[in-house]
Amino acid sequence: MKLLKEKILSEGKALNENILKVDGFINHLVDPALMAKIGEEFGTYFANQGITKIVTVESSGIAPALMTAHAMNLPMIILKKEPSKTLNQNLYQTVVTSYTKGISYELTMSQNYISPDDHVLIIDDFLANGETATGAIRLIRKAHATIAGLGVLIEKSFQPGREKLEKQGIPIYALVRISKLAENVIEFLSEENE
Ligand code: G4P
Repeated sequence: MKLLKEKILSEGKALNENILKVDGFINHLVDPALMAKIGEEFGTYFANQGITKIVTVESSGIAPALMTAHAMNLPMIILKKEPSKTLNQNLYQTVVTSYTKGISYELTMSQNYISPDDHVLIIDDFLANGETATGAIRLIRKAHATIAGLGVLIEKSFQPGREKLEKQGIPIYALVRISKLAENVIEFLSEENE
């Protein structure tokens, strides 16, 4: 997606070989007009596939997932990273370890909001090691729902996430694919759809 690529080049910053800072438009300060266009892009790409719900993981996935849900006129489920006082019964749970952040958490979803009839699209900001998405997939499968695919804003193609998910048969649409990061260097994989 040309618009997102331009935004990354103008406002993103590669901190090192692993981390792209995007907090000025994606995960701290959020650009709603950009998110609306991202939602439309995912909505068009995943149209006519019988999708019934959008699923994301708190917190940075929420903005693009909500705009996708809005564009597709579907409800959105936010997977929680810990159970709350009001969310303590009838739960699906699975432990996820984030390599980037070096932490583990218990990904949690109420059994009330998903059923075997659901066909789900997962939306998230980054695809890095694929652990977050793999955890989301485990939860959705525990509910015997099916998965239409994964839409991510930014894929770090030099990390193993895509390979891990493709092995599980998950279709992936990444709006931007990054082939290399280094301090103040951002390189993209060339894409046909630009
Ligand atoms: P995964 O998401 O593919 O499983 O990879 P990993 O476990 O390594 O990373 C998980 C967390 O790190 C995610 O945030 C993801 O958004 C974030 N992350 C990964 N690579 C980058 C990067 O290059 N830049 C930035 N800014 N973040 C990155 P999270 O734990 O889900 O937290 P949240 O931000 O959604 O609350």
